Amino acid sequence: MENTLNRHASTLTPNATALLKKSGELITVLTAYDYPGARLLEEAGVDWILVGDSLGMVVLGYPDTTSVTLADMIHHTAAVSRGLSHTPLIADLPIGTYATPDETLKNAKALIDAGAHAVKLEGGVSHAPQIKALASAGIPVMGHIGMLPQRVREEGGYKIKGKSPEQAKSLVEDAVALEVAGAFSMVVELVHPDTARLIQKAVQIPTIGIGAGPHCDGQVLVTHDLIGAFPWFRPKFVTPTLNVGDLIRGAAQNWIQQLKRSRGPVAENGIPLSGKG
Ligand code: KIV
Repeated sequence: MENTLNRHASTLTPNATALLKKSGELITVLTAYDYPGARLLEEAGVDWILVGDSLGMVVLGYPDTTSVTLADMIHHTAAVSRGLSHTPLIADLPIGTYATPDETLKNAKALIDAGAHAVKLEGGVSHAPQIKALASAGIPVMGHIGMLPQRVREEGGYKIKGKSPEQAKSLVEDAVALEVAGAFSMVVELVHPDTARLIQKAVQIPTIGIGAGPHCDGQVLVTHDLIGAFPWFRPKFVTPTLNVGDLIRGAAQNWIQQLKRSRGPVAENGIPLSGKG
C-alpha cells in the first residue's frame, strides 16, 4: 500500500505531526546506525529513522546505553545521514549530555551538524526546560517517557511503567509537559497499554510506542530486534520477521567449509576454483 505520510524533515513540527496523528495513519519508526542500514530502511519506506543510543548494545557491545558518548552518536548519525535522501532523521542525545538547557542546546546542535533533523531525549516534566530551549531554537525535539533506558541501572532492569493509578497520572503529566514545552512527538516505552491509551488521548502530538501496546499513534523498534540481527537478546514484545543472525552464520560457515575442504586454487571472489564443496 502506498504510504501517504509526507516524509520530509520539515514535517517534524508539533502542528504537522498533530495532523498526522489526526489522519489515523500509524507512524513507523526504525533505528539505524550506519549507511547501509539507513539506505535500506529508506528504500523500504519507513517514516522516520532514529539513531538510537541502543547503538550501545546492538552495535558497540555494551550491556546498556549508559556508555554511549556524544562522539559515538555524532559518528553514527553522520553515517546514517549519508544513507538518506529524504527520510527524517532523529538522533538520541546520550546520557550525561542534557543536564541543563544550555548544555542540551550545544550538544543537540552537534547532532544536527552531523546530519540529524531532530533530537530525542529521555524525561518528562523534569526535562521540560530542555525541550523548551530546543524548540525555541528551532531544533525539533522528541520526548521519551515510561521506561527510560538511560536509567536502567538505577531502576534495576527494564520494568513496565504505568501499572498503578499514581504512575499513570504522573506519566500523563509528563506527556502533557512535553507537548506544552514544544516536542513534536514522544516515545512511550514499556508502558502498560491502558496507560499508553490515556497518554495518547491526553496529547495532540503523536505517541510512538515500544512495548506499550496498540494504543499509540505509531510504533518504533530497534531494527536488529525486528530482523533477528542480535540473536543473543530479544525483548519479549518483539517477534522477529527474519533471522539475519542465522543467515550470516550460515553464509560464513559455507564459505569456510568450501575453503577448508578445497586443496585447489581460489578464484578472485574467494570461492575454490575446483567448485568442490
Ligand atoms: O535507543 C533507542 O533505540 C530508542 C528506541 C528503542 C526508542 O530509544
